[in-house]
Amino acid sequence: MRIAVTGSIATDHLMTFPGRFGDQLIADQLDRVSLSFLVDDLQVRRGGCAANIAFGMGCLGLSPILVGAVGADFADYRSWLERHGVDCGSVHISETYHTARFLCTTDEEHNQIASFYTGAMADARLIELQPIADRVGGLDLVLVSPNDPDAMLRHTDEARQRGIPFAADPSQQLARMSGEDIRLLIDGAAYLFSNDYEKGLIEQKTGWSDEEVLDRVGVRITTLGPKGAVIDRKGEPSLHVSPAPELGKADPTGVGDAFRAGFLAGLAWGLSPERCGQIGNLTATHVLERVGCQEYELGQKVFLERFTDAYGAEAAAEVAGFVRCHHA
Ligand SMILES: Nc1ncnc2c1ncn2[C@@H]1O[C@H](COP(=O)(O)OP(=O)(O)OP(=O)(O)O)[C@@H](O)[C@H]1O
Ligand SMILES: [Mg+2]
Repeated sequence: MRIAVTGSIATDHLMTFPGRFGDQLIADQLDRVSLSFLVDDLQVRRGGCAANIAFGMGCLGLSPILVGAVGADFADYRSWLERHGVDCGSVHISETYHTARFLCTTDEEHNQIASFYTGAMADARLIELQPIADRVGGLDLVLVSPNDPDAMLRHTDEARQRGIPFAADPSQQLARMSGEDIRLLIDGAAYLFSNDYEKGLIEQKTGWSDEEVLDRVGVRITTLGPKGAVIDRKGEPSLHVSPAPELGKADPTGVGDAFRAGFLAGLAWGLSPERCGQIGNLTATHVLERVGCQEYELGQKVFLERFTDAYGAEAAAEVAGFVRCHHA
């Protein structure tokens, strides 16, 4: 199954300032601020929704096709993703802009000064799916995850017109999109992903009830944080998938993306929705245990052991034939 993962590709540059921003700001000179903070620490974290999801799928042994726009500075990030099995052959390289970047400095009292530069992400709206489908020999599913809003609408529209099944994952972009645009993103989707808060937001903004949303999508997957996930299909009882126990909590950023990676891997392997949800939950747990979205390793043996502990030997046997982690 060939899955195109569309969405944002970005890096986060996180710095820590060993002082208080407030001490450096002079109240009667705020009309001409000129400050430089000497920072102690710089962490560069790879992120962006599509990159996170494709990374997770690659770690499970798939070769997802990453679709998004970046700048000429993408070389290092590309080799990282390719080393983890991601097909970067259809990533658009902007001639003008840098890759999207989140810059954030935190002081010792957890105050933050941050900027988000969209950059090349705006060029994602120029990407057409057909040449990508031609290059890889056809697409079986297109995931539309948070991105430049025009790109999200365009990819959805193109998938619909060409009859390629698509999965809607509007998450963070729900906040800034209109009800009308959100309806366009989810109407006719084979799969709809959101967390439980976003599920409510979708209903509020589209004006569609829980039932009406379900009428318009094939399968709705709602993540419930520490409670796992719930899978709904029209005319069938809701299926609750319990979470995979975590070994410790470090940082929840990226758990949603990792869940999607695992779920999509299960789909690619032709497994049941329940198994897909379980693989999603266990992949998400790995992210929760690390700081950063792509800092985890999936070990073939450990993954299957943990899967067995969480969901039993029978379920694990179904998954074991497919999971191909790079690490032992
Ligand atoms: N405390 C936890 N223990 C075990 N699993 C968890 C925990 N928190 C989250 N998860 C897993 O992560 C999945 C996604 O979590 P959540 O619903 O919080 O996503 P999200 O709100 O989209 O997160 P984000 O957008 O910050 O990545 C859950 O379905 C579950 O599998
Ligand atoms: Mg999320």
